[in-house]
Amino acid sequence: MSFIEWDDKYSVNITKVDDQHKHFMSIINKLYDALMVDQHPKPVIEKIVNELVDYTDYHFKTEENWFEQHNYSDKEAHKQQHDNLRAQVYKLRDDFAANRVEIDLSVLSFLTEWLVEHILGSDMEYSPYLISKNV
Ligand SMILES: [Fe+2]
Repeated sequence: MSFIEWDDKYSVNITKVDDQHKHFMSIINKLYDALMVDQHPKPVIEKIVNELVDYTDYHFKTEENWFEQHNYSDKEAHKQQHDNLRAQVYKLRDDFAANRVEIDLSVLSFLTEWLVEHILGSDMEYSPYLISKNV
């Protein structure tokens, strides 16, 4: 089962970015599958959350490196959005590890909505510029 599915409307026409967005979605789906199992031992969920956190940072760095390299005019505002999500997923990981929060479907909804909104908004905006720079 999938919680979120790739759709071509999410394409920013940069293969590396699209592939990373697809991978990000696959981690959300992996988390969903794990949550749907009756018994889902905490270490299993924790491992996927860690993967999600690491991949979030890795993916954002890919974009931010290009922004720096090509001096993208909106780089600061875009990076600010990334930093906001970074802070939220770091907090989620730490709160979950310390038993302060549960990971449930509302977390998946939040991540999915954030991702889709970010792709269709801010990521689409850099697309023509970075394509013109042959990234
Ligand atoms: Fe982005």
